[in-house]
Amino acid sequence: MTAEHTQPTGAESAGTSSCGCGGNHKLSDACRARIVALRKDYPQSRAALLPALHLAQAEYGYLPRPIVDEIAELLDLLPIQVQEVVSFYPMFQNSKVGRCHIQVCANIACALGGARKLVRQIESKLGIRPGEVTPDGRFSLAEVECLGSCGTAPVIQLNNQPFIERVTAEDIDRVLQADDPLQIGREAPEISMIPDGVPAYLLPPNGQALRTIDNYLAQGGYQTAQKAWREMQPEELQEIVKNSGLRGRGGAGFGTGMKWTFMPKESQKPCYLAVNGDESEPATFKDRQILQRNPHQFLEGVLIAGRAIRAQAAYVYLRGEYVTPYRILMEAREQAYARGYFGDNIMGTGQKFDVYVTRGAGAYICGEETGMMESLEGKKGQPRKRPPFPAASGLWGCPTTVNNVETMTHIPAIVRNGAEWFKTMGTEKSTGNTLFGVSGHVRRPGVFELPLGTPLREIIEKHAGGTPSGRPVKAIVPGGVSMPVLTADSLDVRMDHDSLQKAGTLLGTGGVVVMDDSVCVVRAAAVIARFFRHESCGQCTNCREGTAFLYRLLVRIEQGDGTAADLDTIAEVCSFMEGQTICVLSDAAAWAAGNFLKRFRADFEQHIRDKRCPFPDSFEM
Ligand SMILES: Cc1cc2nc3c(=O)[nH]c(=O)nc-3n(C[C@H](O)[C@H](O)[C@H](O)COP(=O)(O)O)c2cc1C
Ligand code: SF4
Ligand code: FES
Repeated sequence: MTAEHTQPTGAESAGTSSCGCGGNHKLSDACRARIVALRKDYPQSRAALLPALHLAQAEYGYLPRPIVDEIAELLDLLPIQVQEVVSFYPMFQNSKVGRCHIQVCANIACALGGARKLVRQIESKLGIRPGEVTPDGRFSLAEVECLGSCGTAPVIQLNNQPFIERVTAEDIDRVLQADDPLQIGREAPEISMIPDGVPAYLLPPNGQALRTIDNYLAQGGYQTAQKAWREMQPEELQEIVKNSGLRGRGGAGFGTGMKWTFMPKESQKPCYLAVNGDESEPATFKDRQILQRNPHQFLEGVLIAGRAIRAQAAYVYLRGEYVTPYRILMEAREQAYARGYFGDNIMGTGQKFDVYVTRGAGAYICGEETGMMESLEGKKGQPRKRPPFPAASGLWGCPTTVNNVETMTHIPAIVRNGAEWFKTMGTEKSTGNTLFGVSGHVRRPGVFELPLGTPLREIIEKHAGGTPSGRPVKAIVPGGVSMPVLTADSLDVRMDHDSLQKAGTLLGTGGVVVMDDSVCVVRAAAVIARFFRHESCGQCTNCREGTAFLYRLLVRIEQGDGTAADLDTIAEVCSFMEGQTICVLSDAAAWAAGNFLKRFRADFEQHIRDKRCPFPDSFEM
């Protein structure tokens, strides 16, 4: 029932080794050399820790203590500083896993898509449970939270390979029967599109990808960045973006131009741009589409933003599971360096601007901006107390602006076409297009570029094709699972900041999850609560205890063991979790659970009255 994220065990005792080194754990000379070379990308060597751990794990399959010690020595750290980072991040394994480590996403979109059946199939064929390794060391199994591919649910990942999407029982059989399951690859389905008639500027034309720099240059690419660095002052760029009304697309909706003005005009210290591509909140899978299909427009946005805040470098933080977007982005970056758009003398201006890409390692909290900065610095991704705010003291104590990947991708179009052009799309206070990701019970899950303010009903029924079963919609999460759930009464709400606020929720990341009336919403709330319990970084008592308590209560009610008093307890626990903690993960967990209860109270009461779940056709948890 529960999806524990336990470290796999068992292969050690079976005498198998995913590294095959016979117990003499040592990094290869090539790996050591690559780790040493990483140090130069960062002002402090510790910041190379996550990339170093990824390299070592790719070589070894896991991170045994001698390898931890070796990395510590290479980066001038204490072994405990490395060990605490290894144990914080779910992607780093400190005990052996199978040679093929099968990770099945168990969060809401995949659960709605039948992930539980896949887990049962694997369990019965291999005779292992999540957290275990087969006696021959071939396979291990883990249930993981959202992989950022909710539109192609259910999704699995083998080791750190590209995802296998829209997985069927036959796919699982193929994996389990293959001589080398890691060779099983599959073309990722194309799921992002521009609906007819939309004046789009974020996604390339349907069916195309602008991955090569020549294609991008042929469309006028990088010309706006040239103009920004050659002819425009930072204040001018800030003003255009402020006037455009662009609000950040990372979830909080803060004005981008306004945020840029918080950066100092003069600073003794270097200034940085930190770009948030962590994208780990269930229902959110839009930034991945940009990176895979339009990486140069994103990089051009980074260049212009760098100019606008007088940054010396940009650090892009990309979620660790995004293997394909990482590869595509790194290729684009290499092309852009080769043509002189980044580096020591960018575009012949005599000015220096670099962009680095760091992969995260599976912790959602590293999407919170200060958690992300800790992680970029090579530490556990635990959010910082504010003040000081990032513009005063961010990365390595230097002035820093944090912006989302999609936010960056709007910038070239805004600076090229002007603020007035941008305001012709969207609503008065929510300007421009955005990428709505739609998953769950819809015929055509995917990412749609549409103006802000598009009615929710249009997104679900027209673009995503309505429910496959033809059953009515029962519940909708409008903007990532942090955002309060809506009932079908709200289907006509417009998807912009003000309208959603009036409807008692928030736009968040624009990631919409649709649930038809077969769904047990108590179960849905429990799956979402499990995510927050797993992702709490544990610093604040109210969050650490509150997320665990909410999950336990919801499971109890869902199983038919709840009491009427439990409903009051949920409301009370939520009240302790809001506005009391270092970051808003705690608030988000409370909004999610509290609003499922508030908006579907009758379902909760029926579970308690009937002492069982009254929805026999519901998805399994
Ligand atoms: C728990 C938590 C997770 C977050 N995850 C992300 C994320 O994955 N990507 C993102 O851009 N913003 C995320 N945010 C919001 C960031 O803190 C920050 O507001 C955002 O990156 C700023 O960029 P923007 O102004 O362009 O939206 C998260 C916030 C919280 C509290
Ligand atoms: S609210 Fe939760 S996730 Fe945020 S800092 Fe506190 S314990 Fe960590
Ligand atoms: S990929 Fe499974 S819920 Fe997002």
